[in-house]
Amino acid sequence: MKVRIYANRNYPIGEIDKNIFGGFVEHIGRCVYTGIYEPGHKLADKDGFRKDVIELVKELDMPLTRYPGGNFVSGFDWKDAIGPKASRPSRPDYAWLAMEPNTFGLDEFVKWCAKANTAPMYAVNLGTNTPKSAQELIEYCNFEKGSYWSDLRIKNGSKKPHNIKYWCLGNEMDGEWQIGHKTAEEYGRIAQETAKMMRMVDRSIKLCVCGSSSRNMETFGDWDYNVLRHCFDSVDMLSVHAYFGNSDHNFPKFLAAPEVLDKQIADSIACCDAVAAQRKSYKKIMLALDEWNVWYRGDTNAHPETIWQAARPINEEIYDMTDVLVVGGILQTMMDHADRLKVANIAQTVNIIAPIMTEPGGRAWRQTTFYPFALMSKYGRGTALKLSSDSPTYSTDIRAEGIPFVKSSVVFREEADELVVFTINRSQDEPAELTAEFGCFKPTKVIEAIEIHHANPDAVNTADSHPVKPAKIAAKRVSLKDGKLTATLKPFSWNMFRISTK
Ligand code: AHR
Repeated sequence: MKVRIYANRNYPIGEIDKNIFGGFVEHIGRCVYTGIYEPGHKLADKDGFRKDVIELVKELDMPLTRYPGGNFVSGFDWKDAIGPKASRPSRPDYAWLAMEPNTFGLDEFVKWCAKANTAPMYAVNLGTNTPKSAQELIEYCNFEKGSYWSDLRIKNGSKKPHNIKYWCLGNEMDGEWQIGHKTAEEYGRIAQETAKMMRMVDRSIKLCVCGSSSRNMETFGDWDYNVLRHCFDSVDMLSVHAYFGNSDHNFPKFLAAPEVLDKQIADSIACCDAVAAQRKSYKKIMLALDEWNVWYRGDTNAHPETIWQAARPINEEIYDMTDVLVVGGILQTMMDHADRLKVANIAQTVNIIAPIMTEPGGRAWRQTTFYPFALMSKYGRGTALKLSSDSPTYSTDIRAEGIPFVKSSVVFREEADELVVFTINRSQDEPAELTAEFGCFKPTKVIEAIEIHHANPDAVNTADSHPVKPAKIAAKRVSLKDGKLTATLKPFSWNMFRISTK
C-alpha cells in the first residue's frame, strides 16, 4: 500500500505542551504501595521510594503527575496523610475497597515528584469535602508562612512552599459511581466557589474542572456545557477522560481509538466554545486529558480475598503489541490538538493500567506501551504541523469516511533543527510504502529511524522476557532524496523518523 504525507512549516497546529506527557499516581491497588513507595525494598531510598521505579519514570520524562486520585480522592481527607506517620489514621478506601494506611501523603508525594523530575498536579476532594478544605489545602501548600496551615507545613518539614500550580476540581463528578456524585448544577456551583476560594490564596494557579468522565456517558456534552456555565470565568481547563478496550476482539474498531478520541476532543472543545459564544467571551478554555489509556483486562474485582487490605493487586493490565499502536496513535491525536490540549496524564504511572510494572519486593520492568510513550515524550516536543495525508482506509461503524491504515504526525523541534515523523501502520498484513514531503524545510539526513514491531500482536513483556521493544529500521528500508523521505513500514508497526534540517 502507498501512503503520502505532506507537512509545511507555514501550517503549524501549535506548540505541543510538554505537560501532555504527564503521569498519574492514585492511591489505588499497587500504584503507591509497592509501586512508587516500598520501604524495606532493597532499592528503596531513605524515604522509602523505589529507586528502580524513579529511574523508569525519569525515562518516561513526565513533566506533571496527577495525584491522589481518581475515584479515591472523593472519599479522602488530605489532613489524614500529613504529619508524623505514627499518628496518621488508617481508613477504609471505599472507592477501591482497600485499607489506606496514609503512610504516604501530600508531603511525601511532593518529595517523590522532585526526585522523579515531575511536578505535582493535585486533585481536591469535591465529593465529600468542602471548598473550605480545598482552600486550607492550598494554604498548606502554596502560602509562604505565618498562617496556621502554612506553618503546619513548615513544622512537617517543608520550609519552602510546595507551589503546586496545577489543580483538579474533584474527579469524574458526573459518574454515579463517584463518592459524592453530583448533578451538573450542583457540581458547577461547588466548582465555581472552590475555584474562587483557591484563587484567593494563590491567583497564579491553573484550575481544571471535571468534564464528562467518558464519551459514553449519557450526559456527555450537556454536562460539560452546563458545568462551564457556572464556572467559565474561574477555570482554565476542562478535563476529558478516555479509556479504550477490545473486550469484543474487534481489532479494526479498537485500532481506531485515536480517531474516536479525536472526535471526543473536538466535541469537548465545541462545548467550551459554545459557552464562550453564549457569553460573548474571547476566552478559550483549554483541555486536560487527565486520564487516558487502554484499559479492558485489568480487573477492578480481582483478588476479592484482599478486600480491606492495603496494596491490593487490582487493575493490573498487561499490555501487548496491539496496545503499542493504540497508545502511539492516541499520543498522535493529542499532538493534532496541540492548540487546545495543554495537559494529559496517562492513567496510570505504575502497576495500575501502567507502562511500568513492579513485583512487591522484586523487579520493575517496562511494559510494551512504555516505549511509544518514552520516545514520543523525548522527541515529540516542539511545533505540531498540520498534515495533508493520503492513506488507504478501512471501514468501521465508527464513522462514514473510513479509518486510514496509516496515521502520521510531524513535529518540528526548532531548537534541535529536526523534524520528527511518528507513524503507525494499522494494517495487520500489508507493509506501507511511505513518502513524506516537507515543503520549505530543507531536510538533510535521517538521524534515526526506529520501529516497534512484533509478528505476534498479542506479544507482551514480563519481568522475565522482553520481546516488544524499539529497534533500528534497516537502512535499506529508509531513504532521503531531494528532501523527500521514503520508508517501508512493516505491517502492524509503530515508527519514528528523526530528520535533520540543518
Ligand atoms: O484510573 C483508574 C480510575 O478510572 C480512576 O480512579 C477514575 O477516575 C477512573 O474512572
